[in-house]
Amino acid sequence: MSRIAYVNGQYLPHADASVHVEDRGFQFADGVYEVVAVYKGQLIDEKGHLDRLERSLHALRIAMPLARAALSQILRRMVRLNLVREGLVYLQVTRGVSPRDFPFPYAAMPTIVITARNKAFPGRDVKAATVITTPDQRWARRDIKSVALLPATLAKQKAREAGAFEAWQVDANGYVTEGASSNAWIVTKDNVIVTREADHNILRGITRMAILEFARENGFKYEERAFTVAEAQNAREAFVSSASTFVMPIWKIDDVAISNGEMGPVANTLRNAYFDAMDQLADDAKNRSKS
Ligand code: PDD
Repeated sequence: MSRIAYVNGQYLPHADASVHVEDRGFQFADGVYEVVAVYKGQLIDEKGHLDRLERSLHALRIAMPLARAALSQILRRMVRLNLVREGLVYLQVTRGVSPRDFPFPYAAMPTIVITARNKAFPGRDVKAATVITTPDQRWARRDIKSVALLPATLAKQKAREAGAFEAWQVDANGYVTEGASSNAWIVTKDNVIVTREADHNILRGITRMAILEFARENGFKYEERAFTVAEAQNAREAFVSSASTFVMPIWKIDDVAISNGEMGPVANTLRNAYFDAMDQLADDAKNRSKS
């Protein structure tokens, strides 16, 4: 089966799909993106991701290229055409194609690209991973999911070279902002879940919002505040969240082991809650298609 990519209204063989050399996404990173997980053939948290896409586009004054309902149909069609049962859908919108000049072009149509691919996620029972820390080198509007991902790329490469799963970015005051492509969490020795407040300093993760809801439902105490690397290294548990990792336990931060590599009970509860919700979504879709 050959993969299909969606580019500006066309479904094309993935190998032949391309955008123009003067696309502003290519020249200025003038665009935004979303990554949506697919589990049992269903898009996870689609509404949250499309809401955030609209917010990111609005912040950059790029028009939404399609109506929400049409976009939603295209996402579903891409899942079907690419036979994705478990994997990721990537959606990118740029300000469009125009002769290279910094200010916005007067007349450019946004470019929209969607790709979808299979990727098996680790199941409920996952081995804990490790993180390193690195200075946060990004701009001041990290709440916008912009395609300007050079700082994330450098941080991820540093993590890879250190044999770590993720890099936690640290602000000028020594507080963790978030992972290169995930939100950062700890559980204190008093069993309080802590994750940074979602202001302009971090991306407001869609998975983060779901986890906060599961924390409430499970009666966990939580605080939305910044924590230092030292506090994290002294924590009972740590984990990261994102559309591609759900809840991923962390057992080591730089050189400090905070557990023996097992997933902690809070991360375990939240990861299971996430899988329960995804299973429920898939069951509901199955029942709807039967009736
Ligand atoms: N990354 N913080 C950053 C900087 C991110 O890039 C991401 C997502 C998150 C988590 O957001 P969400 O829960 O909505 O996925 C937090 C995606 C998965 C990526 O770039 O691949």
